Amino acid sequence: MTTSREIRLLTPADAPVFRDIRLDGLRQNPHAFLATFELENAMPISRFEERTLTSSVFGAFVDGELLGVAGYRQQDGVKESHKAILWGMYVRPKGRNRGLGQDLIEAIVAHASGSIEQLKLVVTSGNEPAHRLYRRLGFSEYGREIRALKHDGRYFDDILMVRFLAAG
Ligand SMILES: CC(C)(COP(=O)(O)OP(=O)(O)OC[C@H]1O[C@@H](n2cnc3c(N)ncnc32)[C@H](O)[C@@H]1OP(=O)(O)O)[C@@H](O)C(=O)NCCC(=O)NCCS
Repeated sequence: MTTSREIRLLTPADAPVFRDIRLDGLRQNPHAFLATFELENAMPISRFEERTLTSSVFGAFVDGELLGVAGYRQQDGVKESHKAILWGMYVRPKGRNRGLGQDLIEAIVAHASGSIEQLKLVVTSGNEPAHRLYRRLGFSEYGREIRALKHDGRYFDDILMVRFLAAG
């Protein structure tokens, strides 16, 4: 059976499915994200609509179902606008290990190239699947924040990574 696969930018009209997958990620992988399920579950839908406008958020759809998301946001400020932060990378468990994570990053790189020179991200130490994905796709480590997060009494280090893109 053939499956249809599409990577595209989300719009405010996608807010309900975006909210659903985002909350799924926060619930399933609480240590992978800075935000918490409780915080975002309490947010009105308008906050998710807004995010599709203040960031470029890509969705990976398989047979019309949103199975993965990742976004990037250009940094504020004249002297930092050549950089962007990649955030919110999440693929539902049933969509993993078939290249959706890679496709999402490649879509972001293609969209950002020309206007953004550095794509930066943060990955929690010990999150090997994500760390491997980023290394494989050309991100390199430039720093580490020790005990960056404290959750349920446990500390987590943040690994800071960057990929340099072709300048416009
Ligand atoms: C990290 C994450 C986004 C990766 O998503 P994914 O869609 O599984 O990523 P990919 O499929 O592109 O790559 C994953 C693996 O599948 C393999 N793969 C890709 N396509 C494949 C295929 N067609 N057949 C078999 N394996 C395949 C890749 O080589 C990779 O292998 P590796 O882990 O041994 O290096 C996902 O695991 C996730 O959402 N994790 C929880 C949230 C999280 O940690 N987010 C990151 C926060 S920084």
